[in-house]
Amino acid sequence: MGVPSLPQTSFNYANINLPAHFTINNPDFGNISRLDNTPNNNQISDAGATLGRVLFYDKRLSANDTTACASCHLQENGFSDPRQLSVGFDGGLTGRHSMSLANAAYYENGRFFWDERADTLEDQVLLPIQDSVEMGMDLDDLEVKLTATSFYGELFDDAFGSTDVTSERISLALAQFVRSMVSFESKFDEGFDNGGDFNPNGVFTAEEELGRQLFFSNNNGPNCDACHETAAMILDQPRNNGLDANTNADQGTGGGRFKSPSLRNIAVTAPYMHDGRFGTLEEVVEHYNSGIQDHPQLANQLQQNGQPEQLNLSQAEMNALVAFMETLTDESFLTDPKFSDPFED
Ligand code: HEC
Ligand code: HEC
Repeated sequence: MGVPSLPQTSFNYANINLPAHFTINNPDFGNISRLDNTPNNNQISDAGATLGRVLFYDKRLSANDTTACASCHLQENGFSDPRQLSVGFDGGLTGRHSMSLANAAYYENGRFFWDERADTLEDQVLLPIQDSVEMGMDLDDLEVKLTATSFYGELFDDAFGSTDVTSERISLALAQFVRSMVSFESKFDEGFDNGGDFNPNGVFTAEEELGRQLFFSNNNGPNCDACHETAAMILDQPRNNGLDANTNADQGTGGGRFKSPSLRNIAVTAPYMHDGRFGTLEEVVEHYNSGIQDHPQLANQLQQNGQPEQLNLSQAEMNALVAFMETLTDESFLTDPKFSDPFED
């Protein structure tokens, strides 16, 4: 555990200059600011997100000092977990696959978890701490523990103007850090000009460009962006994407509908879906191509004449969709020191 090592001048979290394709009203994407779920009383500050970063990586947040948020949300994996189910503080397994965290700020209805059981991010971040499988900690005990940990007083003071450690402040700071995780420097982003228009020349291979066109095709094609929307590549709302004809094992938000995290960095966040059933992007594409299951709540974007859609893609087209999704990998984001473990030296 030990003491975090932090930069003299804080990293920049509060003033991010997003590129034009995030912020202008272009027909493909639209302005993401309308999707921003940041509440007025918890705008990101550099000191708040810095405290959030330390908390996110601190194993003291678990009952036996073994497990941090970062144990199940790994930066190199887009803040998801390569294990199908994550391992909690006492060796127990989580009920679903860990979710990647990039662009969580831009989920419009502002609810969190695959089944959206947390109404806000501020509510969400306190739940894993108290979860009996994940971190097993009591919030009152956590306040006492962090008050007794020498370096926290100054961090709380910088962020909130006094050294008091409260669970409300823990929640605010963790939420600021998570919302600061915006990914916008992938190969895909390099293809946009300052006017927000995309030009593949010199950036994309022919295969990647074919994949992009399929992803953003209309109703006659895969039409992935009907649901995975905007430059943040975020789902519009929870949906049933035809994984199972019978969803009794897990109904998600109801009727087998689930939230999905952003597809940013999707190539490094395997396995996929709420239960981590698919090990590769090829399997995901195969699902959308020929595996959609009928269900009373199946999203209409995945139906044709009332039947589960069959895309009949060629192997080359399926490969192209995978190649396009691989362009969403953002090495700057995955290695940015401002999101890294401050306890590591
Ligand atoms: C033991 C593993 C584990 C730990 C520790 C853990 N998480 Fe998670 N996290 C998960 C899993 C699994 C899910 C999905 C659970 C579900 O939806 O039922 C998840 C979901 C989330 C989500 C929802 C993302 C979305 O888009 O809806 C956020 C945010 C999150 N975790 C943040 C945190 C923070 C902050 C901490 C530390 C306070 C933390 N997690 C600790 C495993 C973990
Ligand atoms: C009807 C809306 C809809 C359409 C259209 C759609 N998806 Fe999805 N997608 C979802 C939902 C909902 C999930 C999460 C489902 C779950 O885990 O139960 C998801 C999950 C995913 C995931 C896994 C995300 C993760 O973090 O595990 C990938 C990858 C994906 N979709 C790619 C695509 C591609 C490629 C297409 C086009 C061929 C597509 N989607 C079309 C709704 C949609």
